[in-house]
Amino acid sequence: MFDPATLDALYKDIAPASADLPAPAHWVLAGEGLWGSVYDLSDGTMLKVVRRHGGLGNGETLHHREVQALTLLNGLTTDYVRVPKLVGAAPFTNSYLGSAPPLAGWVRMEGLQGRRLSTDSVLSSPARSRDLLGERIGAAIADFNLAATRLAEAAGSKLADTITRSLILARNQLGSAEMHRACDAIAKAWLDLCAQGPLVFVHGDLNPSNIIDNGADQPLGLVDFAESGWSLAETEFRHFEPLGAMRDSAFRGYTARSGNPPDLKAYYLASAADALMVIALRGNAGHPRDQMRRTGLLRHCLHEAGLTETMSEP
Ligand SMILES: Nc1ncnc2c1ncn2[C@@H]1O[C@H](COP(=O)(O)OP(=O)(O)O)[C@@H](O)[C@H]1O
Ligand SMILES: [Mg+2]
Repeated sequence: MFDPATLDALYKDIAPASADLPAPAHWVLAGEGLWGSVYDLSDGTMLKVVRRHGGLGNGETLHHREVQALTLLNGLTTDYVRVPKLVGAAPFTNSYLGSAPPLAGWVRMEGLQGRRLSTDSVLSSPARSRDLLGERIGAAIADFNLAATRLAEAAGSKLADTITRSLILARNQLGSAEMHRACDAIAKAWLDLCAQGPLVFVHGDLNPSNIIDNGADQPLGLVDFAESGWSLAETEFRHFEPLGAMRDSAFRGYTARSGNPPDLKAYYLASAADALMVIALRGNAGHPRDQMRRTGLLRHCLHEAGLTETMSEP
């Protein structure tokens, strides 16, 4: 969220490159994450402003990947999934605008109609509607992987695997030998599976907050493509292990639509890499119980992936 003078400076910087940009008085903050802010511009488009510094890694590459992905996906729409059309994007040449932290770039895209989901809203919804939503998410993933793979092949995309990248970032951040061992074991097992393929073009960061639901008879909208690239399809479920029963309904929907169940070894490796990334990002933050939950999830995923020996008993 930016103060009015900074919003004006952003407007002056972006407007020459993006026709009919509404004035900042019409911008409504829609979301704010580690890497920046997203505004609903009240004209059917959204503006995402990406910072240079946020979590692990850097904002320039996140911005670059998201623009590349939205360009090649070109508003992909099937019966089950849809992606916003890109309206415009550019890196900031002056990354010091107003009182904003250093900025990497902006992306203007079509605003998708519908309910913006969150993990809390999904987990607190009635079991029946959660099941249906999970199945629709699974079908959306199957459709996305199929259609996006064709488009990425046609575009000759070289966007690389987010799991391997996450493991490298997490390893650099983590200090303990035990965590390094876990990173190395996951990376090796993951690369072995990737060598067998097939690789598909994945969204790479699917969690409820990156999904827009416009009703049960409409395709689910996917946003936030900064982690997209070539990977194993199971990467799409990397955030799903803590979602309980919704993981199973998503698997069901995916299997019904694609004809193939997710491979559980690949799924647990991707989930373990994700758990490590969360530990690298959050460290010992929060209540001690949160910390225990984070390491508990990592142990569980390692165990299920057949890598129990990499971490000692608590
Ligand atoms: N094209 C869009 N249409 C509708 N809502 C969007 C769109 N893009 C982003 N949002 C909303 O803004 C929020 C933040 O955007 P996102 O791209 O996920 O950024 P972050 O990197 O902060 O997670 C999303 O959770 C979603 O609710
Ligand atoms: Mg997001």
